[in-house]
Amino acid sequence: MKLGFIGTGVITEAIVRGLLRANYLASEILVSSRPLEISAGLAQLSPLVRVCEENQTIVDEAEMLFLAVRPQHAEDVLTSLTIGPDRQIVSLIATIPINRIREWTHPDAQICRAIPLPSVADLAGVTAIFPSAPKVEELFDALGTAVAARKIEAFDAYAVTSAMMGLYYGLSEAAAQWLCSPGTSCEGARAYLAGMFQGLADTATQASGESFEELRLRHTTPGGLNEQLFRTFLEQEGGNALNRSCDSVAKRIRGMH
Ligand SMILES: NC(=O)c1ccc[n+]([C@@H]2O[C@H](COP(=O)([O-])OP(=O)(O)OC[C@H]3O[C@@H](n4cnc5c(N)ncnc54)[C@H](OP(=O)(O)O)[C@@H]3O)[C@@H](O)[C@H]2O)c1
Repeated sequence: MKLGFIGTGVITEAIVRGLLRANYLASEILVSSRPLEISAGLAQLSPLVRVCEENQTIVDEAEMLFLAVRPQHAEDVLTSLTIGPDRQIVSLIATIPINRIREWTHPDAQICRAIPLPSVADLAGVTAIFPSAPKVEELFDALGTAVAARKIEAFDAYAVTSAMMGLYYGLSEAAAQWLCSPGTSCEGARAYLAGMFQGLADTATQASGESFEELRLRHTTPGGLNEQLFRTFLEQEGGNALNRSCDSVAKRIRGMH
Protein backbone atom coordinates (compact mmCIF):
# COMPACT_ATOMS: atom_id res chain seq x y z
CA MET A 1 0.00 0.00 0.00
CA LYS A 2 1.39 3.41 -1.00
CA LEU A 3 0.57 6.01 1.64
CA GLY A 4 0.53 9.79 1.20
CA PHE A 5 0.44 12.63 3.73
CA ILE A 6 -0.58 16.19 2.89
CA GLY A 7 0.95 18.29 5.68
CA THR A 8 4.00 16.98 7.52
CA GLY A 9 3.50 18.38 11.00
CA VAL A 10 3.31 16.89 14.47
CA ILE A 11 0.73 14.19 13.80
CA THR A 12 2.13 13.06 10.44
CA GLU A 13 5.55 12.71 12.03
CA ALA A 14 4.08 10.59 14.85
CA ILE A 15 2.20 8.31 12.40
CA VAL A 16 5.16 7.85 10.07
CA ARG A 17 7.54 7.10 12.94
CA GLY A 18 5.00 4.58 14.25
CA LEU A 19 4.57 2.95 10.83
CA LEU A 20 8.31 2.52 10.43
CA ARG A 21 8.56 1.00 13.89
CA ALA A 22 5.58 -1.27 13.38
CA ASN A 23 6.95 -2.67 10.14
CA TYR A 24 3.57 -1.87 8.61
CA LEU A 25 3.66 -3.08 5.02
CA ALA A 26 3.76 0.25 3.19
CA SER A 27 5.39 0.07 -0.22
CA GLU A 28 6.20 3.80 0.02
CA ILE A 29 5.31 6.75 2.27
CA LEU A 30 5.01 10.06 0.44
CA VAL A 31 5.06 13.23 2.56
CA SER A 32 4.69 16.94 1.77
CA SER A 33 7.98 18.78 1.93
CA ARG A 34 6.42 21.40 4.21
CA PRO A 35 7.80 21.83 6.83
CA LEU A 36 11.23 20.72 5.63
CA GLU A 37 12.73 20.16 9.07
CA ILE A 38 10.22 17.35 9.74
CA SER A 39 9.94 15.90 6.21
CA ALA A 40 13.72 15.74 5.73
CA GLY A 41 14.10 14.10 9.16
CA LEU A 42 11.53 11.44 8.24
CA ALA A 43 13.25 10.75 4.91
CA GLN A 44 16.48 10.12 6.80
CA LEU A 45 14.79 7.41 8.85
CA SER A 46 13.97 5.11 5.95
CA PRO A 47 14.27 4.79 2.17
CA LEU A 48 10.51 4.09 2.20
CA VAL A 49 9.86 7.80 2.91
CA ARG A 50 9.88 10.14 -0.10
CA VAL A 51 9.53 13.91 0.27
CA CYS A 52 7.38 15.46 -2.50
CA GLU A 53 7.72 19.11 -3.49
CA GLU A 54 4.21 19.10 -4.95
CA ASN A 55 1.14 17.93 -3.03
CA GLN A 56 -0.39 16.90 -6.37
CA THR A 57 2.32 14.21 -6.76
CA ILE A 58 1.21 12.71 -3.45
CA VAL A 59 -2.45 12.81 -4.51
CA ASP A 60 -1.67 11.19 -7.85
CA GLU A 61 0.39 8.33 -6.42
CA ALA A 62 -0.97 7.47 -2.97
CA GLU A 63 -3.59 4.76 -2.58
CA MET A 64 -4.40 5.94 0.95
CA LEU A 65 -4.24 9.70 1.35
CA PHE A 66 -4.00 11.31 4.79
CA LEU A 67 -5.08 14.94 5.13
CA ALA A 68 -3.05 16.47 7.95
CA VAL A 69 -3.11 20.23 7.57
CA ARG A 70 -4.68 22.55 10.13
CA PRO A 71 -8.43 23.20 9.77
CA GLN A 72 -7.92 26.85 8.73
CA HIS A 73 -5.68 25.79 5.80
CA ALA A 74 -7.78 22.82 4.64
CA GLU A 75 -10.02 24.53 2.07
CA ASP A 76 -7.17 26.35 0.30
CA VAL A 77 -4.92 23.30 0.27
CA LEU A 78 -7.57 20.80 -0.89
CA THR A 79 -9.31 22.94 -3.50
CA SER A 80 -5.96 23.61 -5.16
CA LEU A 81 -5.57 19.86 -5.82
CA THR A 82 -7.25 17.50 -8.31
CA ILE A 83 -8.33 14.45 -6.36
CA GLY A 84 -10.05 11.47 -8.01
CA PRO A 85 -12.65 9.17 -6.37
CA ASP A 86 -10.48 6.07 -6.54
CA ARG A 87 -8.45 6.31 -3.35
CA GLN A 88 -9.16 6.11 0.35
CA ILE A 89 -8.99 9.54 1.96
CA VAL A 90 -8.35 9.68 5.70
CA SER A 91 -9.02 13.12 7.08
CA LEU A 92 -7.24 13.84 10.34
CA ILE A 93 -8.44 17.44 10.24
CA ALA A 94 -10.26 18.22 13.48
CA THR A 95 -13.80 19.66 13.37
CA ILE A 96 -14.23 19.61 9.56
CA PRO A 97 -17.12 17.27 8.64
CA ILE A 98 -16.92 14.72 5.83
CA ASN A 99 -19.40 16.54 3.57
CA ARG A 100 -17.12 19.61 3.60
CA ILE A 101 -14.05 17.47 2.78
CA ARG A 102 -16.07 15.91 -0.07
CA GLU A 103 -16.90 19.39 -1.44
CA TRP A 104 -13.21 20.26 -1.38
CA THR A 105 -12.00 16.96 -2.92
CA HIS A 106 -14.38 14.86 -5.06
CA PRO A 107 -18.15 14.25 -4.74
CA ASP A 108 -17.62 10.46 -4.86
CA ALA A 109 -14.49 10.32 -2.72
CA GLN A 110 -14.22 7.50 -0.17
CA ILE A 111 -13.56 9.46 3.01
CA CYS A 112 -13.23 8.54 6.64
CA ARG A 113 -12.11 10.64 9.57
CA ALA A 114 -9.62 9.57 12.21
CA ILE A 115 -8.27 11.03 15.46
CA PRO A 116 -4.78 9.59 15.96
CA LEU A 117 -3.01 10.63 19.15
CA PRO A 118 0.73 11.41 19.28
CA SER A 119 1.43 8.11 21.09
CA VAL A 120 0.92 6.29 17.74
CA ALA A 121 4.66 6.98 17.37
CA ASP A 122 5.25 4.51 20.23
CA LEU A 123 2.64 2.05 18.92
CA ALA A 124 0.46 2.99 21.90
CA GLY A 125 -2.18 5.20 20.28
CA VAL A 126 -5.93 4.71 20.43
CA THR A 127 -7.39 6.04 17.20
CA ALA A 128 -11.10 6.72 16.72
CA ILE A 129 -12.31 6.26 13.11
CA PHE A 130 -15.62 7.09 11.39
CA PRO A 131 -17.11 5.64 9.31
CA SER A 132 -15.63 2.18 9.54
CA ALA A 133 -12.91 1.55 6.91
CA PRO A 134 -11.19 -1.86 7.33
CA LYS A 135 -7.85 -0.93 5.73
CA VAL A 136 -7.59 2.25 7.77
CA GLU A 137 -8.48 0.34 10.94
CA GLU A 138 -5.80 -2.24 10.11
CA LEU A 139 -3.22 0.53 9.79
CA PHE A 140 -4.12 2.19 13.08
CA ASP A 141 -4.33 -1.19 14.83
CA ALA A 142 -0.67 -1.58 13.90
CA LEU A 143 -0.02 1.70 15.77
CA GLY A 144 -1.93 0.73 18.92
CA THR A 145 -5.69 0.24 18.83
CA ALA A 146 -8.24 1.44 16.28
CA VAL A 147 -11.75 2.17 17.56
CA ALA A 148 -14.44 2.41 14.86
CA ALA A 149 -17.30 4.69 15.93
CA ARG A 150 -20.72 3.49 14.76
CA LYS A 151 -22.27 6.97 14.60
CA ILE A 152 -20.95 10.44 14.00
CA GLU A 153 -22.19 11.42 17.46
CA ALA A 154 -19.90 8.77 18.97
CA PHE A 155 -16.96 9.95 16.85
CA ASP A 156 -17.57 13.53 17.97
CA ALA A 157 -17.63 12.36 21.59
CA TYR A 158 -14.21 10.71 21.06
CA ALA A 159 -13.03 14.02 19.61
CA VAL A 160 -14.19 15.83 22.75
CA THR A 161 -12.37 13.44 25.07
CA SER A 162 -9.23 13.49 22.87
CA ALA A 163 -9.08 17.19 23.73
CA MET A 164 -8.26 16.14 27.31
CA MET A 165 -4.58 15.62 26.43
CA GLY A 166 -3.85 19.26 27.23
CA LEU A 167 -5.91 19.04 30.42
CA TYR A 168 -3.98 15.94 31.50
CA TYR A 169 -0.62 17.66 31.17
CA GLY A 170 -2.01 20.93 32.57
CA LEU A 171 -3.24 19.12 35.70
CA SER A 172 0.07 17.24 35.91
CA GLU A 173 1.93 20.57 35.76
CA ALA A 174 -0.30 22.06 38.47
CA ALA A 175 0.39 19.03 40.69
CA ALA A 176 4.14 19.20 39.92
CA GLN A 177 4.23 22.91 40.82
CA TRP A 178 2.48 22.15 44.08
CA LEU A 179 4.83 19.26 44.86
CA CYS A 180 8.07 21.05 44.00
CA SER A 181 7.34 24.10 46.12
CA PRO A 182 8.03 22.70 49.63
CA GLY A 183 11.57 21.58 48.80
CA THR A 184 11.30 18.70 46.34
CA SER A 185 13.16 19.40 43.10
CA CYS A 186 10.93 20.09 40.11
CA GLU A 187 12.60 17.22 38.21
CA GLY A 188 11.85 14.92 41.15
CA ALA A 189 8.22 16.09 41.23
CA ARG A 190 7.86 15.44 37.51
CA ALA A 191 9.40 11.97 37.75
CA TYR A 192 7.23 11.06 40.75
CA LEU A 193 3.97 12.15 39.10
CA ALA A 194 4.79 10.69 35.66
CA GLY A 195 5.62 7.36 37.33
CA MET A 196 2.45 7.41 39.44
CA PHE A 197 0.18 8.23 36.50
CA GLN A 198 1.87 5.64 34.30
CA GLY A 199 1.30 3.01 36.99
CA LEU A 200 -2.37 3.99 37.26
CA ALA A 201 -2.84 3.87 33.47
CA ASP A 202 -1.17 0.44 33.32
CA THR A 203 -3.47 -0.83 36.10
CA ALA A 204 -6.54 0.46 34.25
CA THR A 205 -5.40 -1.16 30.98
CA GLN A 206 -4.75 -4.51 32.67
CA ALA A 207 -7.94 -4.47 34.79
CA SER A 208 -10.17 -3.94 31.77
CA GLY A 209 -13.15 -5.56 33.55
CA GLU A 210 -13.18 -2.88 36.26
CA SER A 211 -14.82 0.52 35.76
CA PHE A 212 -12.85 3.64 36.63
CA GLU A 213 -15.18 4.10 39.60
CA GLU A 214 -14.32 0.59 40.85
CA LEU A 215 -10.63 1.38 40.41
CA ARG A 216 -11.07 4.65 42.33
CA LEU A 217 -12.65 2.78 45.23
CA ARG A 218 -9.88 0.15 45.12
CA HIS A 219 -7.32 2.97 45.42
CA THR A 220 -9.19 4.73 48.24
CA THR A 221 -8.93 3.91 51.95
CA PRO A 222 -12.18 4.88 53.70
CA GLY A 223 -11.47 8.08 55.63
CA GLY A 224 -8.03 8.31 53.98
CA LEU A 225 -6.19 10.95 51.95
CA ASN A 226 -7.43 9.87 48.50
CA GLU A 227 -11.02 10.01 49.71
CA GLN A 228 -10.45 13.50 51.15
CA LEU A 229 -8.79 14.88 48.03
CA PHE A 230 -11.47 13.54 45.67
CA ARG A 231 -14.33 14.75 47.90
CA THR A 232 -12.78 18.22 48.20
CA PHE A 233 -12.22 18.35 44.42
CA LEU A 234 -15.92 17.59 43.81
CA GLU A 235 -17.02 20.08 46.51
CA GLN A 236 -14.88 22.71 44.74
CA GLU A 237 -16.81 22.02 41.50
CA GLY A 238 -13.93 20.11 39.82
CA GLY A 239 -16.28 17.46 38.37
CA ASN A 240 -18.71 20.09 37.10
CA ALA A 241 -15.86 22.10 35.57
CA LEU A 242 -14.83 19.00 33.59
CA ASN A 243 -18.38 18.35 32.38
CA ARG A 244 -18.88 21.98 31.38
CA SER A 245 -15.55 21.99 29.52
CA CYS A 246 -16.54 18.86 27.55
CA ASP A 247 -19.96 20.39 26.77
CA SER A 248 -18.31 23.53 25.42
CA VAL A 249 -16.03 21.54 23.07
CA ALA A 250 -18.98 19.34 21.99
CA LYS A 251 -20.96 22.49 21.16
CA ARG A 252 -18.13 23.77 18.98
CA ILE A 253 -17.88 20.44 17.14
CA ARG A 254 -21.68 20.19 16.63
CA GLY A 255 -21.65 23.75 15.29
CA MET A 256 -19.41 22.58 12.42
CA HIS A 257 -21.99 20.07 11.09
N1 LIG B 1 -1.43 17.00 16.85
C1 LIG B 1 -2.34 16.10 17.19
O1 LIG B 1 -2.26 15.43 18.24
C2 LIG B 1 -3.50 15.81 16.27
C3 LIG B 1 -4.27 14.67 16.51
C4 LIG B 1 -5.31 14.36 15.64
C5 LIG B 1 -5.61 15.18 14.59
N2 LIG B 1 -4.87 16.32 14.39
C6 LIG B 1 -5.22 17.15 13.23
O2 LIG B 1 -4.21 16.96 12.26
C7 LIG B 1 -4.01 18.17 11.55
C8 LIG B 1 -2.54 18.53 11.66
O3 LIG B 1 -2.24 18.75 13.03
P1 LIG B 1 -0.75 18.93 13.52
O4 LIG B 1 -0.80 18.99 14.99
O5 LIG B 1 0.12 17.93 12.86
O6 LIG B 1 -0.47 20.39 12.96
P2 LIG B 1 0.89 21.02 12.44
O7 LIG B 1 2.02 20.49 13.24
O8 LIG B 1 0.68 22.48 12.35
O9 LIG B 1 1.03 20.39 10.97
C9 LIG B 1 0.34 20.86 9.87
C10 LIG B 1 1.37 21.12 8.81
O10 LIG B 1 0.72 21.42 7.58
C11 LIG B 1 1.64 22.20 6.86
N3 LIG B 1 1.02 22.87 5.74
C12 LIG B 1 0.34 24.03 5.71
N4 LIG B 1 -0.02 24.33 4.45
C13 LIG B 1 0.46 23.34 3.67
C14 LIG B 1 0.42 23.07 2.28
N5 LIG B 1 -0.17 23.90 1.41
N6 LIG B 1 1.02 21.95 1.83
C15 LIG B 1 1.63 21.09 2.67
N7 LIG B 1 1.71 21.32 4.00
C16 LIG B 1 1.13 22.41 4.49
C17 LIG B 1 2.16 23.18 7.88
O11 LIG B 1 3.42 23.66 7.45
P3 LIG B 1 4.02 25.03 8.02
O12 LIG B 1 4.51 24.66 9.40
O13 LIG B 1 5.10 25.33 7.05
O14 LIG B 1 2.89 26.01 8.04
C18 LIG B 1 2.23 22.35 9.13
O15 LIG B 1 3.54 21.91 9.43
C19 LIG B 1 -4.93 19.23 12.17
O16 LIG B 1 -6.06 19.41 11.36
C20 LIG B 1 -5.31 18.64 13.51
O17 LIG B 1 -6.63 19.01 13.85
C21 LIG B 1 -3.81 16.62 15.19
